[in-house]
Order: sequence, then structure tokens, then C-alpha cells
Amino acid sequence: MALKPLHFFSLVFILSSVANAKRQMPSDQKPSPFDFIKHLEGCHKGNKTKDIHHLKHYLHQFGYLDYPNQTHANNNDFDDLLESALKTYQLNYHIKPTGTVDAETIAKMVTPRCGNPDIVRGTNTMRSKSNKRQNSSPSTTSIHTVSHYSFFPGKQRWSPSKTHLTYGFEPNTPTAAIDPVVRAFAKWDSATHFTFSRAQNNQKPNMVIGFHRRDHRDGYPFDGPGGTIAHAFAPEDGRFHYDSEETWSVAPVGNTFHLETVALHEIGHLLGLGHSSIADAIMFPSIQSGATKNLHADDIQESELYIMSENQHTDT
Ligand SMILES: *[C@@H]1O[C@H](CO)[C@@H](O)[C@H](O)[C@H]1NC(C)=O
Ligand SMILES: *[C@@H]1O[C@H](CO)[C@@H](O)[C@H](O)[C@H]1NC(C)=O
Ligand SMILES: [Zn+2]
Ligand SMILES: [Zn+2]
Repeated sequence: MALKPLHFFSLVFILSSVANAKRQMPSDQKPSPFDFIKHLEGCHKGNKTKDIHHLKHYLHQFGYLDYPNQTHANNNDFDDLLESALKTYQLNYHIKPTGTVDAETIAKMVTPRCGNPDIVRGTNTMRSKSNKRQNSSPSTTSIHTVSHYSFFPGKQRWSPSKTHLTYGFEPNTPTAAIDPVVRAFAKWDSATHFTFSRAQNNQKPNMVIGFHRRDHRDGYPFDGPGGTIAHAFAPEDGRFHYDSEETWSVAPVGNTFHLETVALHEIGHLLGLGHSSIADAIMFPSIQSGATKNLHADDIQESELYIMSENQHTDT
């Protein structure tokens, strides 16, 4: 039986207090729902290896693959569509787009990540203009030329009058998670034209943070420890969920996920940002346990482009 969030947190705090003495276990020793990918090393077009349908599901989940025919979505044929989806994934993660499940691709794919897709309704937010500019070293320029860049998927933003937004917590939220989320909102508050405050008890907040596990009836089930660790909905939905089966912490400790760092990322989605291909950006999709990050120039720039200057932008 799963631990209740409160028990979970007391466990993490015990861990934190002995962190210096405790030897960290490499996170790759823990089983993850993405581990099936490791058994597909070397697969390429034409292979019919067992579990290729899991790879299809993975790439579908994150927006890379959508079969018109469900038979093809569920079989183990490494077909043209899968190869093309894998190459797009490789481009997004700065891997040579070989279309083969190589060691580098596996290493990226098994890293814990946000549950939001990288490609939303056909728009690959990881191939935006600023991403291209910042990655335009000679070695990567050539692989950054194939994307069609459309500005924002469905123009999902808060209506221009809503510059002050309130947030609240679901009743089951562990007390220890509140301050890290408050700090994350304060950082976005300083970096954007938005201001944020915690909703009063009698007020309906614009955004709601909660902890959930597995299927929690929003269409995006979590997958247990590792795998997807959090997700958030685009404006003006306001829902932001942590996976309660991860081990969370207020301070960066090996093997735990940093509440504030993940909050910074998910708040980006709440404000309308998509994923970034810049590894240092908070909007990069994946995160190693124990890692902390802050807002990056790219995040600020993207938020200015995407959120603030809706009317000034004419690019396609
Ligand atoms: C993929 O198919 C090739 C033949 O095209 C075969 O030699 C290879 O062993 C297969 N690889 C895997 C991982 O199944
Ligand atoms: C789906 O693909 C299968 C196998 O290729 C094929 O037999 C079937 O007719 C296809 N269904 C449709 C609706 O095209
Ligand atoms: Zn995300
Ligand atoms: Zn959810």
C-alpha cells in the first residue's frame, strides 16, 4: 500500500537531515516505467522486437507520434512513422537524428520528465526561434533547419486583463510543499508582467496545486516512481499536479525531486509556455533526481515572446 503524502514527507525530511552522511545511490538503479527502452538498444526501421509498441506509446504520449490506424499504434513493427518520430525526438534532444534507438537516445528517454507533451497539436515548441538561435553552434545548425515554426499552439494564454492570478492548494497537499511553490511563484512574479498571490480561503483560485497518483481522472495518469513526475494544464485551466509517488524534497538531495524546481517548470505551463530544447532552461522537459534549476534567460525571453507580446508578433 502506498504511503500517504504526509508519511512520505516525514521520510524525506529524515533523509534530508542525514543526507551528508548518506551515500547517494545512483538514480538509475531504481526501476522506472521507462526502463523498457533499455531493451530496445540497436532497434531501427524494419525491426519487430517485442516492446516496440511501448516505444510507440512513449512517443505518442509526448506528442511525437499519432497513428491513424490503431493496429499500427499497438504492434511491434518499427515502421516509417516511428522512425520519423524518433528522429524528431533526437533533434529536440540534440542527438544525431539516426532513427536508431542508440545508447544516447536511451539515456535521454529514461530520464524522469514532465508529463506534458513536447509537441502540442502539431506544434513542436522545442524547435522555436530562440532555441535555434541559442543552439546555433556549427555542429548543430544543420539539424535545426527542418522544423516549421508556428508561434503558439492554440494561443493558450491568460486573457490580457488577467495579469494578477491567484493560486491555492488541494486539501491533501503536504504542508512542506507549500513554501517551495510560493517561492516558485515569487520568481515568476519578478520575471514577468504577472503578479501572483495565494487565494483566500473563501476565494476560487485561478490555479490549483495538488498531489495525485496513477489515474486521477484528468486523462493524464501518473506512472509510479520515476517516469513522469508532474504535469500542468495550459491557460486558463490552472491545474498543476505533482506525482505523489515520487520522493519529493524541499532541499536538493540525491534520489529526490526538488519541489521548487519542478514548480518553476509547471508554473511555466500554467502561464502558457511549452517545452524548451535548451537543457539549462527551466522549461526543458526532463530532470535528474537531486537537480535544482532556476529561471534561465531563455525562459524569460520565451515568456516575453509568448505571453506578453501577443499583438506585436507577426512571425509564423
Ligand atoms: C533488428 O533487425 C536486424 C535485421 O534487420 C537484426 O539483425 C537485429 O538483430 C535486430 N535488432 C534487434 C534489437 O532486434
Ligand atoms: C490497419 O492496418 C492493418 C494492418 O496493416 C490493416 O489490415 C487494416 O486494414 C488497417 N485498417 C484500416 C482502417 O485502414
Ligand atoms: Zn513540462
Ligand atoms: Zn493530473
